[in-house]
Amino acid sequence: MRLRGTARINARNHLEIGGCDTVELARRFGTPLYVMDEALIRENCRAYREAFASEAGGMVLYAAKTFLTTGMARLVDEEGLGLDVVSGGELYTALAAGFPSERIYFNGNNKSPAELEEALAARIGGVVVDNPSELALLSDLAARRGQRVAVLLRIAPGVQAHTHEYIQTGQADSKFGFPLVGGVALAGVKEALSASHLDLRGYHCHIGSQILALESYRAAVRAMLEFAAEARAATGYAPEVLDLGGGLGARYTADDDPPPIEELARTMRAAVAEEAAAHGLPCPTIFVEPGRSIVGEAGTTLYTVGAIKDIPGVRRYVAVDGGMTDNPRVALYQAVYEAIVANRAADAPSEVVSVAGKCCESGDMLLWDAALPPVERGDLLAVFTTGAYNYSMASNYNRLPRPAVVLVGGGRARLLVARETYADLIRLDLIPEDLARPEEKRLPAARQAP
Ligand code: LLP
Repeated sequence: MRLRGTARINARNHLEIGGCDTVELARRFGTPLYVMDEALIRENCRAYREAFASEAGGMVLYAAKTFLTTGMARLVDEEGLGLDVVSGGELYTALAAGFPSERIYFNGNNKSPAELEEALAARIGGVVVDNPSELALLSDLAARRGQRVAVLLRIAPGVQAHTHEYIQTGQADSKFGFPLVGGVALAGVKEALSASHLDLRGYHCHIGSQILALESYRAAVRAMLEFAAEARAATGYAPEVLDLGGGLGARYTADDDPPPIEELARTMRAAVAEEAAAHGLPCPTIFVEPGRSIVGEAGTTLYTVGAIKDIPGVRRYVAVDGGMTDNPRVALYQAVYEAIVANRAADAPSEVVSVAGKCCESGDMLLWDAALPPVERGDLLAVFTTGAYNYSMASNYNRLPRPAVVLVGGGRARLLVARETYADLIRLDLIPEDLARPEEKRLPAARQAP
């Protein structure tokens, strides 16, 4: 098993991350627990910044949807990256952390008028406009406020990335982006150029996620610059920026071998320079929006083992105290993970078991047929590469409180998110007046419907 980031096995045969013994972390913060490796997050941010942002005007926008908390926003800011947000909630989180608004870009296929107003009021760096309807809406809102706003147009380049169907986004039949077919994208460029308060800075595309083959990016660059050339012929406009989205994969199992960030940068830069030259276009500045490749491998989830059940001749189920609520990716995408027994970390695997969650649903599994040493109730299970799209997609199904998130580094562990309590679970519940009991009417503590 290859350990990620600062993870290692210490003298007590325990898994250690960021210099913190995971058995101690579990004791101190409880389980399930998301553990984030600070050094690995910073190292990945730096690799992106050095590979892309060193270029004049180049921007690396960390994709907030992957994992965002106010503390994470601070860390991203410290590393000098920008932020790609996709909702008023993500924008609010970033602003609450004091993230510089000029480094925030707003993506998404159905931003509401209120969200666009919030973005304009915060004077964010730019809006990635997704479709003709949004272009008209933003143009109107900006004109009414008398405020100019920088925009990129999101184009659906008709490129299929080699990844799971649900996380492919660049194909022609997609809910995202201006389609190239039928001249829709070209009409969008003309519209943006003629809008009094929109400052068209370039084009955007995002072809999918967990991409392991860089060829997909070359194909996207080809399609995007072909479109840029066509648009220039029709309007005279050439893009200053080409935002190539996110998508670089992370290592979930030994079968995943994502290319390093530097190689992604080299490939993108070479393809953009080559295609721009081929079309006689000025070489645009590259923006990227990585998420998974920054935080995926930096996250580890710790669980306590509970019930163990043998079905003779079939399999052994090992149940843990979390599941699809803290990691819905197995049920949603058939994602495959690796795990070890953290309190006997170097013990050789000797049995094959399947790890189940505790939710009332058969699909609530974390690992099928995982090789582990003998597991007992009370053991600590560590599941790797859970930093991306785990906490951010977590739910309270079965009214399970969401786990805490702890940032570890240099032997220190600090909470990024506190564990939810039972009280948090009912915080927004309301008891309608007609269901209230007489004694509750006088109790301010019981929340009642207005
Ligand atoms: N930019 C845009 C416009 C995106 O839609 C995404 C991801 C990213 C950047 C960041 O992509 P990344 O570098 O993380 O691959 N929930 C799914 C993944 C959905 C990805 C959505 N968009 C999962 O758990 O695999």
